Amino acid sequence: MTQRPISLYALCGSQRRASTSRRLLEALQLACPEGITIAICDLIGDLPVFNPDNEGERTPVIVERFAAEIRKADGLIVACPEYAHGIPGGFKNALDWLVSRDEVPFKPLMFAHASHRGDLVLAQLADVLQTMSLHIVEDAFLRLPVAGKSDEIQAAMLLEARESGLFSASLSRFAQAIAAKA
Ligand SMILES: Cc1cc2nc3c(=O)[nH]c(=O)nc-3n(C[C@H](O)[C@H](O)[C@H](O)COP(=O)(O)O)c2cc1C
Repeated sequence: MTQRPISLYALCGSQRRASTSRRLLEALQLACPEGITIAICDLIGDLPVFNPDNEGERTPVIVERFAAEIRKADGLIVACPEYAHGIPGGFKNALDWLVSRDEVPFKPLMFAHASHRGDLVLAQLADVLQTMSLHIVEDAFLRLPVAGKSDEIQAAMLLEARESGLFSASLSRFAQAIAAKA
Protein backbone atom coordinates (compact mmCIF):
# COMPACT_ATOMS: atom_id res chain seq x y z
CA MET A 1 0.00 0.00 0.00
CA THR A 2 1.50 3.34 -1.00
CA GLN A 3 0.66 6.82 0.26
CA ARG A 4 -0.43 8.23 -3.08
CA PRO A 5 -1.09 6.65 -6.48
CA ILE A 6 2.15 5.99 -8.34
CA SER A 7 2.16 5.64 -12.12
CA LEU A 8 5.11 3.94 -13.77
CA TYR A 9 6.11 3.86 -17.42
CA ALA A 10 7.94 0.74 -18.58
CA LEU A 11 10.49 0.83 -21.41
CA CYS A 12 11.46 -2.39 -23.16
CA GLY A 13 14.80 -2.55 -24.95
CA SER A 14 13.75 -5.49 -27.12
CA GLN A 15 11.42 -5.24 -30.11
CA ARG A 16 11.01 -9.03 -30.42
CA ARG A 17 7.46 -10.35 -30.46
CA ALA A 18 8.39 -13.03 -27.92
CA SER A 19 10.67 -10.77 -25.89
CA THR A 20 11.36 -12.10 -22.41
CA SER A 21 12.09 -8.54 -21.23
CA ARG A 22 8.60 -7.58 -22.36
CA ARG A 23 7.09 -10.65 -20.69
CA LEU A 24 8.76 -9.66 -17.45
CA LEU A 25 7.27 -6.16 -17.72
CA GLU A 26 3.82 -7.60 -18.45
CA ALA A 27 4.10 -9.88 -15.41
CA LEU A 28 5.09 -6.90 -13.26
CA GLN A 29 2.05 -5.04 -14.58
CA LEU A 30 -0.18 -7.85 -13.26
CA ALA A 31 1.57 -7.90 -9.90
CA CYS A 32 1.25 -4.21 -9.03
CA PRO A 33 0.48 -3.59 -5.37
CA GLU A 34 -2.52 -1.36 -4.66
CA GLY A 35 -1.84 2.23 -5.61
CA ILE A 36 0.76 1.43 -8.31
CA THR A 37 0.04 1.18 -12.05
CA ILE A 38 2.35 0.37 -14.95
CA ALA A 39 1.89 1.39 -18.59
CA ILE A 40 4.20 -0.30 -21.09
CA CYS A 41 5.66 1.88 -23.86
CA ASP A 42 4.88 0.78 -27.41
CA LEU A 43 6.57 3.66 -29.22
CA ILE A 44 10.27 2.81 -29.13
CA GLY A 45 10.32 0.68 -32.31
CA ASP A 46 8.62 3.47 -34.29
CA LEU A 47 10.87 6.37 -33.28
CA PRO A 48 12.89 7.85 -36.15
CA VAL A 49 16.67 7.81 -35.96
CA PHE A 50 17.78 10.58 -33.63
CA ASN A 51 19.12 13.69 -35.28
CA PRO A 52 19.84 16.84 -33.26
CA ASP A 53 18.74 18.87 -36.32
CA ASN A 54 15.23 17.57 -35.63
CA GLU A 55 14.92 18.76 -32.04
CA GLY A 56 13.04 21.83 -30.80
CA GLU A 57 10.31 22.96 -33.20
CA ARG A 58 11.21 20.16 -35.62
CA THR A 59 10.73 17.39 -33.05
CA PRO A 60 8.67 14.55 -34.61
CA VAL A 61 5.15 14.09 -33.17
CA ILE A 62 5.91 10.55 -32.01
CA VAL A 63 8.92 11.78 -30.04
CA GLU A 64 6.74 14.41 -28.35
CA ARG A 65 4.24 11.65 -27.45
CA PHE A 66 7.03 9.50 -26.04
CA ALA A 67 8.43 12.40 -24.01
CA ALA A 68 4.95 13.34 -22.74
CA GLU A 69 4.40 9.80 -21.40
CA ILE A 70 7.73 10.00 -19.62
CA ARG A 71 6.90 13.40 -18.15
CA LYS A 72 3.57 12.05 -16.79
CA ALA A 73 5.17 9.06 -15.07
CA ASP A 74 6.36 9.11 -11.47
CA GLY A 75 9.08 6.62 -12.38
CA LEU A 76 10.45 4.47 -15.19
CA ILE A 77 11.10 0.73 -15.37
CA VAL A 78 13.72 -0.42 -17.88
CA ALA A 79 13.97 -4.01 -19.12
CA CYS A 80 16.68 -4.28 -21.74
CA PRO A 81 18.64 -7.18 -23.22
CA GLU A 82 22.35 -7.07 -24.03
CA TYR A 83 23.32 -6.99 -27.71
CA ALA A 84 27.01 -7.44 -28.61
CA HIS A 85 28.08 -6.42 -25.11
CA GLY A 86 26.07 -3.22 -25.31
CA ILE A 87 22.72 -1.42 -25.51
CA PRO A 88 20.44 -2.43 -28.43
CA GLY A 89 20.56 0.34 -31.04
CA GLY A 90 16.82 1.01 -31.05
CA PHE A 91 16.79 1.53 -27.31
CA LYS A 92 19.84 3.79 -27.31
CA ASN A 93 18.12 5.77 -30.09
CA ALA A 94 15.10 6.30 -27.84
CA LEU A 95 17.36 7.49 -25.01
CA ASP A 96 19.22 9.85 -27.35
CA TRP A 97 15.95 11.67 -28.14
CA LEU A 98 15.62 12.43 -24.41
CA VAL A 99 19.15 13.62 -23.68
CA SER A 100 18.64 17.35 -24.31
CA ARG A 101 15.07 17.51 -23.03
CA ASP A 102 13.81 18.23 -19.52
CA GLU A 103 11.59 15.17 -18.88
CA VAL A 104 14.19 12.78 -17.51
CA PRO A 105 16.52 14.60 -15.10
CA PHE A 106 15.97 13.25 -11.56
CA LYS A 107 13.26 10.82 -12.74
CA PRO A 108 13.45 7.66 -10.59
CA LEU A 109 14.20 4.47 -12.54
CA MET A 110 14.44 0.77 -11.71
CA PHE A 111 15.85 -2.09 -13.75
CA ALA A 112 13.92 -5.31 -14.33
CA HIS A 113 16.31 -7.78 -15.94
CA ALA A 114 15.12 -10.97 -17.61
CA SER A 115 18.46 -12.76 -18.02
CA HIS A 116 21.14 -14.34 -15.85
CA ARG A 117 23.58 -12.68 -18.28
CA GLY A 118 23.78 -9.12 -19.56
CA ASP A 119 25.72 -7.48 -16.74
CA LEU A 120 27.62 -5.42 -19.32
CA VAL A 121 24.44 -3.81 -20.63
CA LEU A 122 23.28 -3.11 -17.09
CA ALA A 123 26.55 -1.31 -16.37
CA GLN A 124 26.41 0.63 -19.65
CA LEU A 125 22.79 1.61 -19.11
CA ALA A 126 23.57 2.78 -15.58
CA ASP A 127 26.37 4.94 -16.96
CA VAL A 128 24.22 6.41 -19.77
CA LEU A 129 21.17 6.99 -17.59
CA GLN A 130 23.18 8.59 -14.81
CA THR A 131 24.82 10.83 -17.41
CA MET A 132 21.28 11.84 -18.35
CA SER A 133 20.69 12.59 -14.62
CA LEU A 134 18.12 9.87 -14.00
CA HIS A 135 17.98 8.55 -10.45
CA ILE A 136 18.53 4.77 -10.43
CA VAL A 137 16.89 3.11 -7.42
CA GLU A 138 19.30 0.22 -6.79
CA ASP A 139 17.16 -1.17 -3.98
CA ALA A 140 14.36 -1.99 -6.41
CA PHE A 141 16.56 -3.93 -8.88
CA LEU A 142 14.76 -7.06 -10.04
CA ARG A 143 16.28 -10.01 -11.87
CA LEU A 144 14.30 -13.01 -13.05
CA PRO A 145 16.31 -15.11 -15.53
CA VAL A 146 13.53 -16.27 -17.84
CA ALA A 147 15.57 -15.64 -21.04
CA GLY A 148 16.44 -18.79 -22.93
CA LYS A 149 13.81 -20.89 -21.14
CA SER A 150 10.85 -22.60 -22.83
CA ASP A 151 7.50 -20.79 -22.85
CA GLU A 152 6.18 -23.22 -20.22
CA ILE A 153 9.12 -22.68 -17.87
CA GLN A 154 8.95 -18.91 -18.38
CA ALA A 155 5.24 -18.90 -17.50
CA ALA A 156 5.88 -21.02 -14.39
CA MET A 157 8.76 -18.79 -13.24
CA LEU A 158 6.75 -15.61 -13.79
CA LEU A 159 3.77 -17.02 -11.89
CA GLU A 160 5.96 -18.22 -9.02
CA ALA A 161 7.66 -14.83 -8.79
CA ARG A 162 4.29 -13.10 -8.73
CA GLU A 163 2.83 -15.42 -6.10
CA SER A 164 5.92 -15.34 -3.88
CA GLY A 165 5.70 -11.54 -3.69
CA LEU A 166 9.05 -10.97 -5.45
CA PHE A 167 7.50 -8.53 -7.95
CA SER A 168 5.38 -6.62 -5.46
CA ALA A 169 8.30 -6.30 -3.02
CA SER A 170 10.48 -4.74 -5.71
CA LEU A 171 7.72 -2.40 -6.89
CA SER A 172 6.96 -1.37 -3.31
CA ARG A 173 10.62 -0.52 -2.68
CA PHE A 174 10.57 1.54 -5.88
CA ALA A 175 7.35 3.31 -4.87
CA GLN A 176 8.79 4.07 -1.43
CA ALA A 177 11.88 5.64 -3.01
CA ILE A 178 9.65 7.71 -5.31
CA ALA A 179 7.44 8.84 -2.41
CA ALA A 180 10.49 9.72 -0.30
CA LYS A 181 11.80 12.02 -3.07
CA ALA A 182 8.48 13.75 -3.71
C1 LIG B 1 22.01 -9.48 -31.89
C2 LIG B 1 22.10 -10.10 -30.52
C3 LIG B 1 23.25 -9.93 -29.77
C4 LIG B 1 23.33 -10.48 -28.49
N1 LIG B 1 24.45 -10.24 -27.76
C5 LIG B 1 24.51 -10.69 -26.47
C6 LIG B 1 25.62 -10.37 -25.64
O1 LIG B 1 26.56 -9.70 -26.04
N2 LIG B 1 25.62 -10.82 -24.36
C7 LIG B 1 24.56 -11.56 -23.86
O2 LIG B 1 24.59 -11.91 -22.68
N3 LIG B 1 23.50 -11.87 -24.63
C8 LIG B 1 23.46 -11.46 -25.91
N4 LIG B 1 22.36 -11.74 -26.69
C9 LIG B 1 21.29 -12.51 -26.11
C10 LIG B 1 20.17 -11.60 -25.60
O3 LIG B 1 20.64 -10.62 -24.73
C11 LIG B 1 19.15 -12.45 -24.87
O4 LIG B 1 18.65 -13.40 -25.76
C12 LIG B 1 18.05 -11.61 -24.30
O5 LIG B 1 17.41 -12.34 -23.32
C13 LIG B 1 17.01 -11.24 -25.34
O6 LIG B 1 16.04 -10.41 -24.72
P1 LIG B 1 14.54 -10.45 -25.22
O7 LIG B 1 14.02 -11.86 -24.96
O8 LIG B 1 13.84 -9.44 -24.37
O9 LIG B 1 14.52 -10.12 -26.68
C14 LIG B 1 22.26 -11.23 -27.97
C15 LIG B 1 21.11 -11.41 -28.76
C16 LIG B 1 21.03 -10.86 -30.01
C17 LIG B 1 19.75 -11.02 -30.82
